[in-house]
Amino acid sequence: MLQVITSIEDIKQRIKTFKENQLSIGFVPTMGALHEGHLSLVRQAKEENDKVVVSIFVNPLQFGINEDFTQYPRTFDNDCELLSKEDVDIVFNPKASEMYPNGFCTSVIMERIEDRLCGKSRPGHFRGVAVVVLKLFNLVNPDIAYFGQKDFQQTVVIKRVVADLNLGVNIKVLPTIRNKEGLALSSRNAYLSETEKNDALCLYKALIKAQTMVNAGAKNAKEILGEMEKIINNCKSAKIDYISIINPETLESVPEVRKGDVAALAVRIGKTRLIDNTILFFIMAVFIHLI
Ligand code: PAJ
Repeated sequence: MLQVITSIEDIKQRIKTFKENQLSIGFVPTMGALHEGHLSLVRQAKEENDKVVVSIFVNPLQFGINEDFTQYPRTFDNDCELLSKEDVDIVFNPKASEMYPNGFCTSVIMERIEDRLCGKSRPGHFRGVAVVVLKLFNLVNPDIAYFGQKDFQQTVVIKRVVADLNLGVNIKVLPTIRNKEGLALSSRNAYLSETEKNDALCLYKALIKAQTMVNAGAKNAKEILGEMEKIINNCKSAKIDYISIINPETLESVPEVRKGDVAALAVRIGKTRLIDNTILFFIMAVFIHLI
């Protein structure tokens, strides 16, 4: 039965019991408004661990002052219903005051990687993510934690923090789940009108273009980025934040594409900022769609 825990003391106690019984713990951190993307992580966690903990916490630290913290969709009851169906053991749903009591002042700085890509237009965002994930790891003490490739830079940041601070949590990154047209599922898709949802397909189309070009032998990043840009600019409501082809570890732009490099982009559709990416293969593209 799904158990909802809101206090730090209770989650610590529960985790202690799991550990005493030598039960392995899979952990899926989320901000709620759950969809099939989140659930794909939950299902993998269920398969690979004795117990599964999901956190639902809209983390104020990772939102900028002009960002959508207050509007961010909160659908807790529905989320719990979904997690119950997946047979999740614990939902950890703390209040902001529980996570960040008065006097809280610690941060995590990730030199070089936090200011690139999304970090440029969202200063402080990845510090906020790193702090909350580090706190959650300390509380939940998972054997394996699951993240989605959709937030590619986030996965790089988390892997870096885990390696640099010797956290001993196994990080698994699972593929992006898309709707049948190709739009990557995201809690923020709830902000899009039907027309905007259709416009938002330009992100996917641009990624497909990059994959197709690479498969056909293209290597010059500038040339590929130019074609991706054309696709996005063809859509009137789209405004490019960035389009880059990057090394998957350093996040630095590459002039010449190699297997494993990542095409990543952030685009505003109307007021909504969407991100997407794909790992560039030379043989076959992998995109997972819901039927
Ligand atoms: P959130 O946006 O709720 O996402 C939680 C997890 O679900 C992340 O690892 C994200 O990459 C994954 N996810 C989202 N959409 C997905 C999709 N379409 N396919 C596969 N996985 C998907 O990311 C966060 O929350 C927060 O930054 C968090 C890590 C919880 C820290 O606050």
